[in-house]
Amino acid sequence: MRTRVFSGMQPTGNLHIGNYLGALKNWVRIQHDYECIFCIVDLHAVTVYQDPAALRAKILEIAALYLAAGIDPKDCSIMVQSAVPAHTELSWMLTCVTPLGWLERMTQFKAKSAKQESIGSGLLQYPVLMAADILLYQAGIVPVGEDQAQHLELTRDIAQRFNSLYGDTFVVPNTSLPTVAARVMGLDDPTQKMSKSATGLNHAVGLLDPPDKIRKTIMRATTDSNPAVDIPNAGPGVINLLSIYQAFSGATDEEIKAQFTGLRYGDLKKLVAEMVITHLEPFQQRYREITADPAYLAAILREGAERVAPIANDTVHTVKQRMGLYT
Ligand code: TRP
Repeated sequence: MRTRVFSGMQPTGNLHIGNYLGALKNWVRIQHDYECIFCIVDLHAVTVYQDPAALRAKILEIAALYLAAGIDPKDCSIMVQSAVPAHTELSWMLTCVTPLGWLERMTQFKAKSAKQESIGSGLLQYPVLMAADILLYQAGIVPVGEDQAQHLELTRDIAQRFNSLYGDTFVVPNTSLPTVAARVMGLDDPTQKMSKSATGLNHAVGLLDPPDKIRKTIMRATTDSNPAVDIPNAGPGVINLLSIYQAFSGATDEEIKAQFTGLRYGDLKKLVAEMVITHLEPFQQRYREITADPAYLAAILREGAERVAPIANDTVHTVKQRMGLYT
């Protein structure tokens, strides 16, 4: 039996080349080696207020982007979290074995709650819901970025605590896959990871941005005060542009060094922009085809939910039995 992989993205913000190079591309690479479930975590999104119509549209957009990136719905399950009620059910049971202190310590909770005027309790529970997502399917591998490492560690702690209270129930998941994924930094500030919630105009290249916009964003990227590319002495902005080029082109370090050393930044940016545009064009074409057929997308999501629901319901049933709840 193939090891199960579970990962997900929130249907918020605009997916960008960092999401593609850092996550989606990796998912596509491993999709046939494991039994993969790729989720759209809408229940996580509503831990902060979302405009209902925009949220609904975003869920479909993310599903279409998964498909456009090359996720194969015949072999992988693409599903929306709220379509499988077991996520919410298990989340409650896990809440009851999770000490408050564990949740208050989460750095993402501290960062997010510092930005809110009134802090919804869902924001505190966020990592318990994430633990439920993973533990429901006994996922062995959870490919996530470094920013989710603490939540994954908490998932392991919750699983172990449940197992020791009620007997062996959950597979304790491994941390992420050893990835070769690129870590793409913000184009306006190369010291920060590219983020889909950042508001800066020149921060990210969106996966659905038209070529003109991509050119503009990349031409305005922050570099440094050197006149031209000199790799050992390059600042983070130049390194970021080079690694974006490298990730899309598949070139080796030596090839990048040979091609770019001595090139002026304006020329570097032009080459990076054209490389990105060339790769996003067929991607955007596929996206347009997929979204032109809403019934197809709806069928993919329905099939995904139908395929995973029995696994999830089975886990909830076992958990209820272990806890003495009425089933
Ligand atoms: N919290 C994750 C993020 O923001 C999304 C997520 C929710 C997730 N549930 C998950 C990722 C389960 C992996 C596994 O990136």
